[in-house]
Amino acid sequence: MTAAYPHLRLRRTRAAAWSRALHRETALTPADLIWPLFVTSGSGVEEPIASLPGVSRWSVDRIGQRAREAVSLGIPVLALFPNTPRDLRCETGREALNPDNLMCRAIKAVKDAVGADVGVLTDVALDPYTSHGQDGLVDAGGFVVNDATVEVLVGQSLNQAAAGADVIAPSDMMDGRVGAIRAALEGAGHHNVQIMAYAAKYASAFYGPFRDAVGSAGLLKGDKRTYQMDYGNAEEALREVAADLAEGADSVMVKPGLPYLDIVRRVKERFEVPVFAYQVSGEYAMIEAAAAAGAGDRDALVLETLTAFRRAGASGVLTYHAAHAARMING
Ligand code: PBG
Repeated sequence: MTAAYPHLRLRRTRAAAWSRALHRETALTPADLIWPLFVTSGSGVEEPIASLPGVSRWSVDRIGQRAREAVSLGIPVLALFPNTPRDLRCETGREALNPDNLMCRAIKAVKDAVGADVGVLTDVALDPYTSHGQDGLVDAGGFVVNDATVEVLVGQSLNQAAAGADVIAPSDMMDGRVGAIRAALEGAGHHNVQIMAYAAKYASAFYGPFRDAVGSAGLLKGDKRTYQMDYGNAEEALREVAADLAEGADSVMVKPGLPYLDIVRRVKERFEVPVFAYQVSGEYAMIEAAAAAGAGDRDALVLETLTAFRRAGASGVLTYHAAHAARMING
């Protein structure tokens, strides 16, 4: 039931700033943001990443400062990704199981700096640790094998949980990994360690700068299409989400972000569970490139895109713009 023009004028509520503020349906707060950080070896290191202007790799001793920054900005959780030194990468990615690897040291650095004031989300997949850049173990023909990979991912998850990770985020897209990781976490007494499953993760051209950031770009031959999803598919995303929830995921993720808001919305409506979205490296780079080219206002692009995720139904967004966005929101 609605009035008709001219009794109905939808512009009335838009006419003044106070009214636009009053009628805004979707709010973006710093608590909606997850801040991904890249960790590198050495000490006192800040290493800018050329394909991600404004984003750096930090050595472990400088991670605590980022964690304190997150607390002061109101960002609730950090997502950590290691750039493993080349000589520690191998066919099987066994550095992922080292309790003293970059990831574990970074987790501890965050906890030492801010305790429980910030959550630590850790990526589970082997690509930062393998000499071939694939997310899992490969057979003689180069095919990424599922079940043997899952066994390693379970070990990687337990390693991260033992170091203090709060949220295990498997980004590998192997079948059955969420159930296996959940069982192992329960078995090891990590009852409150969450799993945020990269449930609907597409084989995407938007991951390029990330692969530079973790140092796998030059190593990867071929693509990841035998495990990451075909971007033509949506029903399959719903099946992936259903499987991960049934296996014990606490929340699910859709990735990439902006070109996949239809998937965010469908997952939210179908499952009514916490859905997160990853505004990935290539999306970040596009915004930065547009701003640098004078094709758009950076701050406005950041706030509009992040709010769009919330409007689509996302509980939160992983974004390299997290700190900048939080500063803008906080004024
Ligand atoms: C690794 C992983 C990737 C991203 C997050 N975890 C890359 C990939 O699958 O190749 C991409 C994130 C981004 O582009 O920002 N499994």
